[in-house]
Parts: sequence; C-alpha cells; structure tokens
Amino acid sequence: MYTTLETLGVTTGDVILEFSYLVAAIFFVIGLKQLSHPETARLGNRWAAAGMLLAMITTLVLHRDAAGAGIQSTNIIIIVITISAASVLGAYIARTVRMTAIPQLVSLFNATGGAASALVSLIEFSNPGNESTLVTLLGLFFGSIAFSGSMIAYGKLDGKVGDIFAGFMKYLNIFMLAIIITLIIYVLAAGAPFEVNRMIVYALLVLSLIYGVTFVMPIGGADMPVVISLLNSFTGIAAAMAGFIYNNQAMILGGIFVGSAGTILTILMCRAMNRSLFNVIVGAFGGGGPAADKTAGTVREIQLSDAAVLLSYSRKVVIIPGYGLAVAQAQHVCNEMAELLEEKDVEVKFAIHPVAGRMPGHMNVLLAEAEVPYDNLIEMDDINPGMAGVDVAVVIGANDVVNPAALDDPSSPIYGMPIIKALEAKNVIVMKRGMGKGYAAIENHLFYMDNTRMLFGNAKDSLQKLVTEIKTL
Ligand code: TAP
Repeated sequence: MYTTLETLGVTTGDVILEFSYLVAAIFFVIGLKQLSHPETARLGNRWAAAGMLLAMITTLVLHRDAAGAGIQSTNIIIIVITISAASVLGAYIARTVRMTAIPQLVSLFNATGGAASALVSLIEFSNPGNESTLVTLLGLFFGSIAFSGSMIAYGKLDGKVGDIFAGFMKYLNIFMLAIIITLIIYVLAAGAPFEVNRMIVYALLVLSLIYGVTFVMPIGGADMPVVISLLNSFTGIAAAMAGFIYNNQAMILGGIFVGSAGTILTILMCRAMNRSLFNVIVGAFGGGGPAADKTAGTVREIQLSDAAVLLSYSRKVVIIPGYGLAVAQAQHVCNEMAELLEEKDVEVKFAIHPVAGRMPGHMNVLLAEAEVPYDNLIEMDDINPGMAGVDVAVVIGANDVVNPAALDDPSSPIYGMPIIKALEAKNVIVMKRGMGKGYAAIENHLFYMDNTRMLFGNAKDSLQKLVTEIKTL
C-alpha cells in the first residue's frame, strides 16, 4: 500500500503553502542579489517585497493549526486592516522622508522588527504547545536588544540622544551579558513551564532591553555604522527564531537572509572602521581621551575664479564626496562640474569611502541618482595608492573620512580608521559652509595644511558658481 499525503494528514493547501514559501525564498535571493548593485537595487527591492507579499497572502489563506483549523475570519479582517494601515503609513513615510534622514528611518523600522519578534517570543512562551524554549528565549533576547538598541541609534542619528563615553559601561555590559546568559541557561535547565519561570522571563526581557540601551549608548563618533548593521542582523536573527517557533519556512529564511546580510555588512563595516567585532559587542569603541590639538595654524581660502582655473588646467582631479554633499543635495551640479572638466580633458574620478555620509552606500546612491558613470566611482582602497599623483582633491562636504588624525593621532577617537588620503594630493580644495566638525565631532588637521585651500559656502551654491566660472574659461 502506498503512503499518500492524505494518510500523512497533509492537504493540497499545505503543499501549495510550503511551495509558496519556497518561491518567496527564491524571490528574496533574487532581491538580495540585485540589491548589491545600484543599477538593479530598486528592482531587487520589488522582488523581495513581492516574495513577502506572496508569503503573507498564502499564509492568511492556507495556514492551518495543529487541529487543522484555518485562521479565524475575524482575525483575518484584523490582520488585513492592520497591514493595510501600516502599508499606507510606511509608503507615506518612505515618500516624504528626507534623503539624509534615511538612516534614522532604517533604525526606526529595524526597531519595530525587533519589537515584533520579541513580542512573538513573549506570547509564545506561555503557549503550552510551544516546545522550542531555547529559540523562544533567543528570540526574546535578540528582539529586545534590536528594539531598544535601534531606538537609541535612531535618537543618536537624529541628534536627540548624545554619547555617553563612560568607561564603566564596558564592564556593565559584560556583567549584564553574563547575567542574561545565566538566566537563559537556568530556564533551559529547569525545564519548568512558563508559570514557574514567569518572573525570570520578564527579568530577561527587561535586562535585554536595558542591555540594548547600554550597548549602543557609549558608541560615539564615527562608529555608528558598525552598530547599525549589527542591530540589523540581530533583528534578522530574532525573526528567524520567531520562524522556528511557528515552524514557518518563509520567516526562517527571511530572518536568516536579513541576519546574514547584516552580519556580512557588520564585518565589512568593522574592516572599514578598523574595529574588532568583540569591541562592538561589548560597546568598547573609540580611542581614549581628547584628540591632540594639531590645528594650530592658519586656514587659507581660495577664490572661486582661482579654484576654477586650478581645476580646469589640472590633469587629474579626484572628488571626495561626504555627508555635506547629501545635505546640500549638490550631486547633480557636482556631476555637471565633473562633465565640464572632462570636456577640458581633465581626468575626473570620485573617491568613495565606505562610511561617507550616514548609511552604507550613501554616496553610491547619491551619485547614481545624478547619473555619474559607475566606472568613475573608485573605492577607497583603489584610489589611495594613486593620491600622490592627483593634481587636485576636491573635498565636498566630507570631513571625518579625510581626517589625517585617523592616521597619525593615537589619542583621536577615529585613530585607526582608514581614510581617503586627500592630504597626499598636490592641491586640496575643501568645500564646506564653515569650520563645522563632522559626525565624530573632532577637529580636522587637513584644513590647516599647506596644500589645502577652503572654499566656504553651501556645497550646492559653491558648485553652481564654480560651474559658471569654469564655463567662462
Ligand atoms: P562628516 O564627517 O559628518 O562631515 C560632514 C561635513 O559636511 C561637516 O563637517 C559640515 O561642515 C559639512 N556640511 C554640512 N552641510 C553642508 C552643506 N550644506 N554644504 C557643504 N558642507 C556641508 O561627513 P563624512 O566625511 O561623510 O563622514 C561620515 C561620518 O558619519 C563618519 O564619521 C561616519 O563614521 C559617520 N556615520 C556614517 C554612517 C554610514 S553607514 N555611512 C552611519 C552613521 C555615521 P560645515 O558645518 O562646516 O559645513
């Protein structure tokens, strides 16, 4: 006698549901692959969103519980109304958000993902049918940290929360982590039902939430990118744990993709910032003490006409964009200047620092929007060896990513971070509004060097005037 799906209690609906999860996972993979290049990134987002939509619809229609019952129609109505309202709100926020506020928005969205996973764990812990105690505890732990940590990261990026550089935080974090691990082991070893462990599980929730805060709080200066991508990976792990609780393949795979993408990004960011992952986890960032004052000297300005002549008669020009270019929305006029110079046989390249701006790939996105050819965007490691042969390095709204303190000042909070070596160029023109500091809030010795001239003003205004001047030559 053959074993049929029916004899195993599997319906056609179950098969279609599992198959739809497989299709959704394939869509996620295609989406991720396409997200890795600016040209295909938008399409990649749509592929991933389509996979998620498919998984949500098939779950609502075909999911059955252990007793074989589908989702109650009243619950379906509540779920559909909630998803629709959240989608409208999400679309509105995404359409109206300023480009420079995207990192804060990403942190906020990440926080909601962490909170949702933590809530799933909290609810499912008291479900007698749930036998996955370990994954439930891990979901609670990672989800809570992702929530509170991302809220603090949001506050910091938005300028609402300051840095606390208390040295004891490092030890407090290690101590709390030890307590959290002990509690998890205790609950697992006791193997008692939720009623018995209720207070311990609540303590775990509170401690994880506090850990998220104390873990992100001391991280200051230029180190935020690392922690943001790490929190991203925590949300992915928490979502995967929630998937294991429900034995839902789409949630497991989606969570694993987010978790692993976040982890890979964290490793890349660590390399870019020259930090070890252990230091990230215990919240031990930055160098010790205030940076040495090397800024004694004079800042020299350059006139627009002189800058236009210098650029027009150069052989090699490297443009180093930073956060200020994004604030000024000067990417289009920046490309216009590059094209004008190329018409004059000047070789123009854009040097991309991995943490320039406020989010991974910020400069790539910005310059792609202005239709700068991808071939002209050169990564930091590739451009640095040739910087000494560059006639003019034009620093536009960048500060920390060209700060020589990272190379030669061990007391600086950014010491050890690789920079774009603008200082080695024969001439440096720095375009910014004044002597304002960058994200790391430290002085920049580059502005006082002999080969540097400052062109003060809003980057867009200065570039527009520069373009007009270059056209007259
Ligand atoms: P920053 O060091 O933040 O410097 C930006 C500079 O732009 C400021 O010094 C400011 O000087 C100038 N500026 C602001 N508005 C301007 C405008 N309208 N026109 C012209 N200049 C303007 O930028 P960066 O060099 O790109 O470095 C990025 C920093 O952010 C790093 O420390 C990085 O670690 C951190 N961070 C990065 C990320 C990611 S993932 N990219 C995430 C979080 C934090 P004035 O006020 O004098 O004009």
